[in-house]
Amino acid sequence: MTLDIQSVRSQFPGLKDGFIFGDNAGGSQVVEDVIARISDYLSTSNVQLGAQYPVSKLSTARVDLGATHTAALVNASPTEIIFGPSSTALVISISRAIDKDILDGEEIIITGEHESNVGPWKKLVAARKNIGMKIWPHTPISDSSSNPYAVALQIDALLPLITSKTRLIAFPAASNLLGADGHVKEVIAKAREVAKERGARKLEFIVDCVAYTPHRLINVKDWDVDYAFFSYYKLYGPHVATMYVRQAALQGSLSSLAHHFLPVAGKAYMLQPGGPGYESVYAITGVLPYLLSLSDSKPSIAFDEATATITNTSEITSALVEAYQKIAKHETEVLVTPLIKYLRSKYEQGVRIVGDDAFPVNPGRFPTISFVVVGTKEPAGDKIVKYLDATEKIGIRNGHMYAYTLVESLKPAIDLDDGVVRVSFIHYNTAEEVEIFIEELDRAIDGAVS
Ligand SMILES: Cc1ncc(COP(=O)(O)O)c(C=O)c1O
Repeated sequence: MTLDIQSVRSQFPGLKDGFIFGDNAGGSQVVEDVIARISDYLSTSNVQLGAQYPVSKLSTARVDLGATHTAALVNASPTEIIFGPSSTALVISISRAIDKDILDGEEIIITGEHESNVGPWKKLVAARKNIGMKIWPHTPISDSSSNPYAVALQIDALLPLITSKTRLIAFPAASNLLGADGHVKEVIAKAREVAKERGARKLEFIVDCVAYTPHRLINVKDWDVDYAFFSYYKLYGPHVATMYVRQAALQGSLSSLAHHFLPVAGKAYMLQPGGPGYESVYAITGVLPYLLSLSDSKPSIAFDEATATITNTSEITSALVEAYQKIAKHETEVLVTPLIKYLRSKYEQGVRIVGDDAFPVNPGRFPTISFVVVGTKEPAGDKIVKYLDATEKIGIRNGHMYAYTLVESLKPAIDLDDGVVRVSFIHYNTAEEVEIFIEELDRAIDGAVS
């Protein structure tokens, strides 16, 4: 049940020169096989889809495979998968497609997390004027904590916001700033129950999985979610994003965004105005084999050409569960534990973890760890990150991480531009890297507080 870290790292050309990538929540390195597939697609099948000549048949089959693989990854049907240039663009598309199915007087609940699943809803509410919006606030994780920044989205703060008018709840499966698990299954189950009791007409959930999928396995059926999206450039792939859209939503909640003459009503394609980047959609078929390679059983993907389906999905799901268990174990033991322990040791110097700071660490905590330094004359974030940049061996960043409303809501207030300092490691980061990082960070913090 332990990751073979050398074999992991050997699959990422970007890791070869030893640079310590600590900004993976911004974007991960890319698996070798994904890179090869981009080149192969462009070299051998770069034509328009849908024609009957051989190369077009090949390009069509390759691009279709992108949805087949993504469906296997998230436990959906390929007919429920769409692609777009970015997660943000996909949410904007859904906000347009759902407009007619939100009735006057109904309400959307949003959070202060990454603006991708917040801004499009604020804009829809502003444009419509006759629909309401509520913000699910972050609340202290523990009443007794001396750290005012130890906050999270907690279900107790959501439930009172739900009324008979609640139509949509938009929230993240994981926070890209707090490193917190969004407990999607529990939130959706409880919120559906409460909405039913309060007489809501129709409640759907749109869940941002961008900061979740590098760390834990999505299961849309188990979650009972309606829309779930992520960006492949955070999951070892290129810049292309994908969304699961439940069949019932395709048929009952959304209007087509495609050209009026295309017979796509009720089909996922109606949410894809124009083609996605074909070479990128094909290239992401290198991600699932990579994840499977982390499991002990390492199953191959059995693909039936005649029906264009994967025939061993249950074997694949079991291997994915195992692979992600190894990822989670490595993250908790090798990445999260030493970092939280170190940052807590700097409490007297003003370091405050933003998010769950419990030690021993909660196994649900992701290795996306943010902190601020209180009590300095000038905000310390820029100074710390500049010090690390100057080492030329470590990459992290500071700022609001697009979780603007969350950072703005923190009390005592922190400078919005300087924001938090965030290190985000993933499973290819090693114990040695964490050790070097902590040594350098210690010098950086000492310099910033002196
Ligand atoms: C949690 C989260 N959601 C959404 C996004 C936006 O993704 P994209 O750049 O594909 O729009 C990001 C990007 O950083 C993110 O971290």
